[in-house]
Amino acid sequence: MKEKIVHTGATALITGGAGFIGSHLGDALLSRGYKVIAVDNLSMGKIENIKHNLVNPDFHFEKVDIRDIESLRKVCKGVNVIVHLAAYKIPRYGNAVETLLVNGEGGVNIFKVAKEFNCKVVLASTSDVYGKSEEAFFQEDGNLIMGPSYIPRWSYAVSKLFEEHLAYAYQDAYNIPVNIIRIFECYGPRYHLSWWGGPIPVFVSAILNDKEVEIHNDGKQTRCFIYISDLVEGIISIIEKDKIAGEIFNLGTTEEISILELVSLIKDLSGSIGTLKTKFVPYSSFSNKKYEDIKKRTPNITKARNLLEFAPKISLREGLLKTIDWQREIMKKEK
Ligand SMILES: NC(=O)c1ccc[n+]([C@@H]2O[C@H](COP(=O)([O-])OP(=O)(O)OC[C@H]3O[C@@H](n4cnc5c(N)ncnc54)[C@H](O)[C@@H]3O)[C@@H](O)[C@H]2O)c1
Repeated sequence: MKEKIVHTGATALITGGAGFIGSHLGDALLSRGYKVIAVDNLSMGKIENIKHNLVNPDFHFEKVDIRDIESLRKVCKGVNVIVHLAAYKIPRYGNAVETLLVNGEGGVNIFKVAKEFNCKVVLASTSDVYGKSEEAFFQEDGNLIMGPSYIPRWSYAVSKLFEEHLAYAYQDAYNIPVNIIRIFECYGPRYHLSWWGGPIPVFVSAILNDKEVEIHNDGKQTRCFIYISDLVEGIISIIEKDKIAGEIFNLGTTEEISILELVSLIKDLSGSIGTLKTKFVPYSSFSNKKYEDIKKRTPNITKARNLLEFAPKISLREGLLKTIDWQREIMKKEK
């Protein structure tokens, strides 16, 4: 596989560049001397997230829908690496059509332009692709076990798997160097404040407003959360390392916590004085009544540690404190 060395001074195209991860990645790349082109259709991302960069001559934002290949072509000239983050995320309450089409059609366009403009591609995938795997620690070369097709939640994982296969197909057929990152529950300032941003923003918001915290199922399901700056460091290592073309990396932490414990921890850290109020919501009450959750989702990050020197530094406690502070400020501004 032909390697493509990318480093300071290179031009990175970030799709989903006004979103949570994309806006932080843009900040970090600019501070390392990159030129950054961010594209986003602003369906979920916000100009607010990138406003501070709009005056920077090394930063360019274009409102582009990744399903529109002509618009993508216009911004790809001179790009060395595409970090493909734009996506329609987990269809917890439906919207499987949007998920499959944005991620499927968008993915096809990204690899077409990567071929035309000879760019390396770093593709954001998800821990969700491990599906119902019962491995204690998910490993990049492990089996991926999807639930039945009539359960819409699997459409997100399947759309990301399609993109993963597309990545390898383009690498094999056209020598496009690709890397795939499987992200495990990232959180931090600028995350979306609804379920789109995961459980943390919803729990923080309920606790800060002294409202009932809705816990899906029994709350015993466990997750591992990674703070945004640690994730961004991992992505930058992948952009810059050579001799890793074609590798998939789990990016996450192994600090496992149940949803119930997470709610208690947020309550403790929030300094809120009211009594914690919780309500257990069965999956069967979801509007489409067809939902399957994952009991445990813990990454094996040995490969990222060994090849990227990936070592998340921010503990869940520390990350939550920063995030709660940010969310409190946002709430004050919105009042
Ligand atoms: N945040 C996590 O914990 C997590 C976990 C696993 C995977 N991921 C993946 O990481 C990537 C970024 O996630 P995020 O948390 O920053 O989400 P986000 O929603 O904040 O960012 C995604 C961005 O893509 C944009 N977008 C959506 N459809 C688009 C389209 N058709 N054309 C152009 N832009 C479009 C949205 O407006 C948004 O700004 C996604 O691919 C997601 O699947 C994230």
